[in-house]
Amino acid sequence: MRSFAVAAAFAALAVANPLPQEIDWAAVDALAPIPTVTIPIVDISAQASTVAYEPSAAATSVAAEVKASGVDTTTGLKARAAVTCKPQPTGAGKVPSPDTPDAFLAFSEFSDTAQSASTPAGYYNTFTDLKASNNAYGYMGYTVLSEYSTTTCASKCDAISGCAAFNIYFERDPTLNPNDASCNNPASTTNIKCVFWGGPVTTGNAKNAGQWRRDFHVVIAGSNGYVSNKIVTPPGYTDPIPLGNAAVNAPFDCQGKDTYLGVRIFQTGPFDISKCAAACTAQADYARAHPPANGGEVKTCSWFNTYVLLKDNVAVGQYCALYKNSWEVPKYATNYGQYRGQSKYTIENSFVSGNGTSVTPACQPQKA
Ligand SMILES: *[C@@H]1O[C@H](CO)[C@@H](O)[C@H](O)[C@H]1NC(C)=O
Repeated sequence: MRSFAVAAAFAALAVANPLPQEIDWAAVDALAPIPTVTIPIVDISAQASTVAYEPSAAATSVAAEVKASGVDTTTGLKARAAVTCKPQPTGAGKVPSPDTPDAFLAFSEFSDTAQSASTPAGYYNTFTDLKASNNAYGYMGYTVLSEYSTTTCASKCDAISGCAAFNIYFERDPTLNPNDASCNNPASTTNIKCVFWGGPVTTGNAKNAGQWRRDFHVVIAGSNGYVSNKIVTPPGYTDPIPLGNAAVNAPFDCQGKDTYLGVRIFQTGPFDISKCAAACTAQADYARAHPPANGGEVKTCSWFNTYVLLKDNVAVGQYCALYKNSWEVPKYATNYGQYRGQSKYTIENSFVSGNGTSVTPACQPQKA
């Protein structure tokens, strides 16, 4: 039942970290890691394979379920291997001579193509001509292109709800599925791949340099990354302000009170500011409906900071910190990440936004 689930979730929020604001380790530790995505390299087809996302449904379900986020198991597309040595579709890219992984990686035409590619309208370029593909936040599928065209890849991303970034590259793939000793290192074909993500693609998450399929070496060249400039303003909220790699680190206010209300962390679907707005609205609705029995202050969310939290460059999830009041940015956006043990936690794609009618600035502490 909806109200029960919300009650249970925000009861947990009520005991949130009382300190202004370390990353909330209790919430982070409770999460299972997002499974690594395997983008198929055999049995790929020219058909687009995309992950559907319905933003309004996602916002509704954030408000409604608010229970521990499940991990989306639908993203790891598994190659089926019923037949041995099955011929694979021919890619549109050139095959260097000799047909070896080293020649592929050294092939100057791939570099030239990547380096001369134009940045499509509405995007910015995050890296150029790497020999690795991304594992970013929010896998949204991929397609195989007939030419290395950033414009085509961008227009496909634009048509996918939730697509926030793409990665385009040449991939050395086998012409036969090398799933038997009789075809353990077949001739190669070059696919031009366009992979869609719900969060930013960066040099930091471009770590997939290929893999071995028996004796066949899958490698990647000419890998470029582009991130959309488009920012969705959640209904009823102010235009989100981008903070890049910094999270808000709000002090106690002028009365020594904590304006921080707690955190939600999302692990499925693309990065979506509206999910955090829905959590803020749900918290405020719940707080108003359940005022403290002792007549104390009703603390309602009117402002939030949401970002992709990374552990050692791998996305942990979309972090959503809720606040009673707004804080001036970038003045208070001072958390660029933290070490915990050997692990480095960092922030990317950070935004703040507030309730368009009720957000009020926190009163400033005497000494900040
Ligand atoms: C904004 O705040 C007002 C007053 O607290 C509330 O009634 C309204 O539902 C909030 N809007 C959103 C979109 O949460």
